[in-house]
Amino acid sequence: MRMKEGFLWGGATAANQYEGAWNVDGKGASVPDHMRGGDINTPRQIDAEFDPDALYPSWEATDFYHHYEEDIALFAEMGWNVFRMSINWTRIFPTGMEEEPNEAGLAFYDKVFDCCAAHGIKPLVTISHYELPYALVEKYDGWLSRDLIDLFFRYGKTVLDRFHSKVEYFLTFNEINIGLMNMGAPLSTGLIKGFTGTMAQVDRTATERFQAVHHMFVASAKLIKYAHDNYPEVKMGNMIAFIPTYALTCDPADVLANQANMRQMDWYCSDVQVRGHYPYYAKRMWEEQGIELNITAEDEKILSEGIIDFYTFSYYQTNTVTTHPDAEQMQGNMTMGGKNPYLEASDWGWQIDPTGLRIFLNEIADRYDNIPLMVVENGLGAFDEVVVEDGVERIHDPYRIDYLRKHVRDMGEAVADGVNLIGYTWWGPIDVVSAGTGEMRKRYGFIYVDKHDDGTGDLHRARKDSFFYYQKLIKSNGEDLD
Ligand code: BG6
Repeated sequence: MRMKEGFLWGGATAANQYEGAWNVDGKGASVPDHMRGGDINTPRQIDAEFDPDALYPSWEATDFYHHYEEDIALFAEMGWNVFRMSINWTRIFPTGMEEEPNEAGLAFYDKVFDCCAAHGIKPLVTISHYELPYALVEKYDGWLSRDLIDLFFRYGKTVLDRFHSKVEYFLTFNEINIGLMNMGAPLSTGLIKGFTGTMAQVDRTATERFQAVHHMFVASAKLIKYAHDNYPEVKMGNMIAFIPTYALTCDPADVLANQANMRQMDWYCSDVQVRGHYPYYAKRMWEEQGIELNITAEDEKILSEGIIDFYTFSYYQTNTVTTHPDAEQMQGNMTMGGKNPYLEASDWGWQIDPTGLRIFLNEIADRYDNIPLMVVENGLGAFDEVVVEDGVERIHDPYRIDYLRKHVRDMGEAVADGVNLIGYTWWGPIDVVSAGTGEMRKRYGFIYVDKHDDGTGDLHRARKDSFFYYQKLIKSNGEDLD
């Protein structure tokens, strides 16, 4: 099963989890810079004020800032033609409120994009990936304020004006639907003004969460219209955390509950971003949850003028939904969800479902008239062990290879079904800080980085077995899965 000619193969990262250099060359603090590490049982702590004795994993992360040439050369060695990365908002506007951008920040990304070009790799740039300036939290309570629409627009316009000739593909917001949940408030919407506590303790009303996401919709659409009007060669996409669910049983009550869950979690945001208006079911959904939104006629106009060119999503796992009591719960991507007896799970409890990728690629294609699709995150967080064989460091990671093989196989099936899939970027192709837990030992990479949860490690890089598997797979354009 081969992909189409020109299929985009690569990996995906986020500045806050990868770059480090958190206060270098004029960069300001963003929300993740205020977050400590946790683990599967310990939610991450957010500190309004820095604690001098605490360790903040994003501060150094795996230091792409000082290793970008070495890392991009390794990506090229794997055969990538696309690299999804994000721009750190606070590198360009340190507080988010400056009138003029920080030239040193822009210059860093110029160097990164030039390095990519030298290796024949196209950047796919997320403009905002969980990197809200912390100063905007302190002043505005994040995206709760309408003022952020214009502040984001100034930042996004600066990025487009500077980089439109070096970057063809942009995504406005990473996993915009995560902001609908309390769990997503710190990283996505920044609804944490004055808050110190854990991610699990954030408790904002549904009206606040949905209003914040509404402001993000308008900001996204406004920037997309600007891009379309000024840089027609650039393609603008959305990004959804696609966390699909199945009804646990064929009890119609379960099927109905699952439909409601899928609408709210998976379809609501992209229905707005693909179609340019809220879906027909939104009104009742809001009413039933006591959500009252301030949506102006001008907002509606902007939404209708800023629809996306391509749809992208992350896909890690599926869960189940039931109305029956005592269903077992599993962990997931910023979520909890019902256990599925037919699936196995990762060490962090995320249920592995390659067939689900085929099913939902078809569902998305079906709903949106076969719009170009890209899987911009998919991957397995796992413990890795380094062994030294003949003086060479080896990381044998058959579990990661198996996950990759099965997901690419089912992606190939979806393409054979007729889905217009244009690319695939594995999440965390080099080890980065986990967003959900802040850990280093939850590793996704094909490239190992010597960095540990206690902050130790000399940051040297080593190729895992999966590095060579992905290289072979890309060379055959997805055909050689052995
Ligand atoms: C997605 C995010 O939610 O999943 C990434 O876009 C994140 O930023 C990835 O890292 C994997 O989640 P985690 O919690 O294992 O890092």
